[in-house]
Order: sequence, then C-alpha cells, then structure tokens
Amino acid sequence: MGEHKRIGILTSGGDCAGLNAVIRAVTHRAVGTYGWEVMGIYRATQGLMSRPPQAIALDVEKVDAILTQGGTILGTTNKGNPFAFPMADGTLRDRSDEILEGYYQLGLDALIGVGGDGSLAILRKIAQQGNLKFVGIPKTIDNDVSITERSIGFDTAVNIATEALDRLHFTAASHDRVIVLEVMGRDAGHIAISAGIAGGADVILIPEIPYTIEKVCHKIQERQAQGRHFCLVVVSEAVCTETGEAVKISDRFGECRFGGIGQYLADRISACSEAETRVTVLGHTQRGGIPSPLDRLIASAFGVGAVDLIANGQYDHMVAWQNRQVVGVPIAEAIGQYQAVDPNGTLVKTARGLGICLGD
Ligand code: F6P
Repeated sequence: MGEHKRIGILTSGGDCAGLNAVIRAVTHRAVGTYGWEVMGIYRATQGLMSRPPQAIALDVEKVDAILTQGGTILGTTNKGNPFAFPMADGTLRDRSDEILEGYYQLGLDALIGVGGDGSLAILRKIAQQGNLKFVGIPKTIDNDVSITERSIGFDTAVNIATEALDRLHFTAASHDRVIVLEVMGRDAGHIAISAGIAGGADVILIPEIPYTIEKVCHKIQERQAQGRHFCLVVVSEAVCTETGEAVKISDRFGECRFGGIGQYLADRISACSEAETRVTVLGHTQRGGIPSPLDRLIASAFGVGAVDLIANGQYDHMVAWQNRQVVGVPIAEAIGQYQAVDPNGTLVKTARGLGICLGD
C-alpha cells in the first residue's frame, strides 16, 4: 500500500460540470484504495492563502452523493493570479509564498489541481518555486488544453448547446427566421463546431476560420431558394467582426469578457439578406447543470489516474485522455501549446461535407 500520505485537491478557474465527479473519484481512490487522507481546499489557491488555510477533510461518505452535482463543492475562482494578486489598496502583490506556506501548514504531501491551461501553468510555477509536489487534471468547457483529447466539462457544454439548437430549430422553422446561437469557448471554436454539427446548424462560425457576411448571407439565400426559409447559425464567442475586432463587454471592475458577436452578426445578416433574425446567447448555462455520462466517466478516470500518478511519484504530470486511455503527460507539454480547432481536421471536413457554411 506504500507510505501514508495526506493530499490536497483544489478546483481552479471557471467551473464546469464534472468537477464534483472528479473530487469524488480522487477521494475514493486515495482514501479507499491507498488509505490516505484527502483535504479539499476551498476557492482554489485562495484557500491556501487564507489563515488558517481553508480546507475540509474529505472521506468517501462526504463525496458519495456528489457524482451528479454541477459546480464544485470546493468553490473556485478565475480571478486573482497569485503572482500579481489585486489587493484592497489597488496594488498587485506576489502571494505565491503564502500558497506554499498554506500547503505546508495543512501538512500536505502532494496537491492535485483541477484546472484549465491558465490554472495549471500558475500551479506548476508555484510548485517549482517551493518543494510542492503537484499533479494536474484538465477541465474546461473550452477543450483547449493540448495533449488531451478531452477535458472535463466539454461534453456537457456541447450537449447543452446541441439541445439549444434542437429547440431553436422548431421555433426558427415556425417563424421563417434566422436564429443566431452564441456559444462560449474562449479563443477556440470546439463547442461551436461540435454542437453545430450535432445540432444540424446551417452556418458555423469559429475563430479559427475567417468569414465574410456575404458568404453567410449567400447560404441563407440559397436555402430560401430551396424553400427552406429558416436558418440556424452557431457562432463562437471569440469570432471577430468583419473588420477583425473582438466583441467584448467590460464590467464595472474593468474586466473584459467576450460577448455580443451574436447580436452583431444578427444585425449584419438582417441588413444584408433582409431575413428576420433573433439571437440566443447560451452563456453560463453551458457550465452548469448535471454532468453528462461522458463527463462523469472522464472525471472519474482522471481522478483515479491522478491519485495513481502520486502513488507512483510521477509529479509535475497531468492526466490526459489519449486513444481511449488515461495517460500521464508532463504538464510542461500541455501548457506549452494551445489546442485550437484544426481547420483541416475531421470536424471541419465533416461540416463542409454536410454542406454547412463555415463563412469562408
Ligand atoms: O473558460 C471557460 C469560460 O466559460 C469561457 O468559455 C468564457 O469565455 C469564460 O469562461 C467566461 O468567464 P466568466 O465565468 O468569468 O464569465
């Protein structure tokens, strides 16, 4: 069984469906198989910065009912880079040492961080700074972490976007409208291309493929000429305007987020084709709710795999889904590159083969 360990787990970055399934799997494997202790750390690295560190001892009973629960019982944050942490007085402070200190105060032998590429890069840097033994688990609805074919949360987000298209289909057809569905995904078009194909979209616009409004309107008019007077357009939030500007919303904290390309396109389509348009912005519905069976499965396999990496002393590694298996890969390889949609890949070819307009 090996030596006794006390390990920590935290969820970092934007939440997604399947985070609780991974917390459950880590606890089952560590406590159930190896007889270790598991500390669940609250609100990502902020729990380690707090004094005393904010954490809860997890056991099999505590995590038993959370498999299907959305969100994360540990809480999370996608703000406050610990190397430039925004303080109340407006200054930025490097608080990475406080995180290391929190790790040692909790008496941890290793830490599992569940995050996207940004969180994994930050946690790895902190681990390298002190003698923190770190293992990563990729999660993000954006599915943009390289080396792994899948990240936790992506499948549920695609299911939600696909279901939205299924619903929009009927109302668009009933009113002869062009309905634009804006989906998340940050700089990558994975959600848009997958849900667009699965949901029978007529037009899919992704950041990886430049488009023109003329091509989009041509598709709409072509359908009209065939007697199909409605159209479903899926657009990824990071698609730019025709002149190449990102469409963003800034809030009162000065933060800038993607949002608004759907309305921009609807207005341009309406002006160019005279079609009646409507817009649906799915937003955070893509992150919430019950995880799909595939996300539960991946989260469970990743949780078990991450604990096994620790048992084997394979630190500075991340679990990845490759060729139907969970493998351990160096985190450096995963965060060194970015996984965008391949414009020559299978999904783009499939969309083209189905006659879906990609705007080019
Ligand atoms: O990275 C996940 C994600 O949901 C992106 O798809 C989206 O752009 C962003 O997070 C939204 O962040 P927030 O929760 O801060 O609005």
